[in-house]
Amino acid sequence: MTAFTVAIDGPAAAGKGTISKAVADRFGFAHLDTGLLYRAVGRRVLDGADAVEAAGQLEADDLDRGDLRTPEVSRAASRVAADPGVRAALAAFQRRFARRAGGAVLDGRDIGTVICPEAEVKLFVTASDETRARRRFEELRGKGLETSFETVLADQRARDAQDAGRADAPLAVAGDAVVIDTTEMTIEAAVGRAVAEIERVRRSV
Ligand code: CDP
Repeated sequence: MTAFTVAIDGPAAAGKGTISKAVADRFGFAHLDTGLLYRAVGRRVLDGADAVEAAGQLEADDLDRGDLRTPEVSRAASRVAADPGVRAALAAFQRRFARRAGGAVLDGRDIGTVICPEAEVKLFVTASDETRARRRFEELRGKGLETSFETVLADQRARDAQDAGRADAPLAVAGDAVVIDTTEMTIEAAVGRAVAEIERVRRSV
């Protein structure tokens, strides 16, 4: 089977991960959560490493760590993600992954705009600030983390502003992306919308 890339971008906690996994399962595509790469670099920087060096030396074990989804690592990920040297070090791996045979789903911030502008399907998944913060708050609480909704919302706003405001590969909607606003949608409906778009494109290629 030939390459077929689904690029799913969007702000923090918009539901990209859930939609990506469901779509990958449904079509038998490989899935790469590119946020995890930046989280792993951020984690290593918190442990004292140099950001660009850490990005150049990432190993599978770095991505398997159980402590990559904490608020502290989210902030560190967004900081290292503004460094063009870090982004450059991670780009080739993501591009190879995107064009692998059999199809691939990549979710992140710049997949449809920078990493894979030739992706067959580009989705931009978003939701209101409050809805996203509510989902993330419940996810963190579910993991036993003590936090408040206000803290999660403030953290998220700061990170979105940093991600959208950086000079290199900022969070942005690709001109040819289909926008899915999940504010008023169930996860099933959002997945259904993504699946329908992929099926539409698959019929036409
Ligand atoms: O799960 P959530 O949407 O909150 O974040 P994530 O997708 O795991 O990404 C963590 C951070 O990595 C983001 O805030 C971005 O700064 C950065 N990132 C990026 O710059 N480019 C990507 N393709 C993916 C993530």
